[in-house]
Amino acid sequence: MGKALIVYSGGLDTTVCIPLMREQGFGEIVTVTVDVGQPAEDIAQAAERAKILGCEHFTLDVKDEFAREYCMPAVHANADYFGYPLSTAIARPLIAKRAALKGLEVGCDAFVHGCTGKGNDQFRIEHGLKMFAGDLPVIAPVRERNLTRTWEIEYAEKNNVPIGQSKHKIWSIDENVWGRSIEGGRLEDPTYQPPEEIFQWTSSVEDAPNTPEEIEIAFENGNPVAINGEGMTPLAIVVRVNEIAGRHGVGRIDIMEDRMIGLKVRENYECPGSTLLIAAHRALEALVTTHAERAFKLQVDQQWAEMAYRGLWWEPFMDDLNAFIGSVQSRVSGWVKLRLYKGGLQVTSRGSDWALYSEAAASFDDVQVLEQSKMTGMVQTHGMESLLYAKLRKR
Ligand code: ARG
Repeated sequence: MGKALIVYSGGLDTTVCIPLMREQGFGEIVTVTVDVGQPAEDIAQAAERAKILGCEHFTLDVKDEFAREYCMPAVHANADYFGYPLSTAIARPLIAKRAALKGLEVGCDAFVHGCTGKGNDQFRIEHGLKMFAGDLPVIAPVRERNLTRTWEIEYAEKNNVPIGQSKHKIWSIDENVWGRSIEGGRLEDPTYQPPEEIFQWTSSVEDAPNTPEEIEIAFENGNPVAINGEGMTPLAIVVRVNEIAGRHGVGRIDIMEDRMIGLKVRENYECPGSTLLIAAHRALEALVTTHAERAFKLQVDQQWAEMAYRGLWWEPFMDDLNAFIGSVQSRVSGWVKLRLYKGGLQVTSRGSDWALYSEAAASFDDVQVLEQSKMTGMVQTHGMESLLYAKLRKR
């Protein structure tokens, strides 16, 4: 019979897919876990469960590619979807792409994923699979069969499927180096205050150090390249800023989010590193870009976030947006210093060879570079239309 490839996390949903696909007639099951920075225990557990259930298993470590090709563009675009730095969203296209390519390599007949019918991930994952393995069918058992957690747990127990602690898990967690999302259980209720236990990457304000910490990020062409003078790869930078900002309680996010299917939901995130890098990047862009560039880039960045949220990573429009964003990045080189303290993050100074800033011109003591008296004419016409309109109304 056929071969099914499961895009596998090792959690409850994707694990019950293994016997379900056997029942459906697939003779061979291949599981693929794409490592974008999930906890090492989760990666190991996925491999172990797949083995127990007799699957051919692959773990694909793409953390480096994720940081370079997905997190860096997110920095360039100041990734922000209504307060969310798009951490889950930007990982899905890469997970789907790698799984699709592996599927072609092992000659699978169908792909299987564990996304529910209520989230965004079904769109992102299925689109990515179709993009790279177009003709192969995609099966989504949880969505197609309206599966519930309770049903899945019962089914797993009946079929001797190892689900370990999954049964007792209260929260649905998705994690990669760009951030951590915590959903489900009582958190779905927007009136419920998140308990401290949901946070793993960030300290509470109470536990954060009592002394502030300064950090300097150097940028080249929009890419963070060094921390406090020490050059590092994109992945090493993202990992390091997560530690530093997380220690100071920076990057806890609690928002209402509008999902693709039109569902408004409450979401909690911990995104210390991405929050810090984007704040620093914004500060440097503000120093080197013209007013027109800044105003337009706000709109471009917003469109970029909408596309990234939808997992439309390979849309031609995305290329168009990236072309503008990339053109601006060629001058986003320099450094930014930030101060972290008790959940707060402040830019304290910045510098660049491309700074569009003239101290002489801006200074109140200047009489030569920009002579004040020369402005009189320009000021005269300011607001002229409003004045004319006010006169007409009095008439
Ligand atoms: N709401 C976020 C998004 O759509 C996070 C989704 C988290 N996914 C998960 N399976 N827990 O990007």
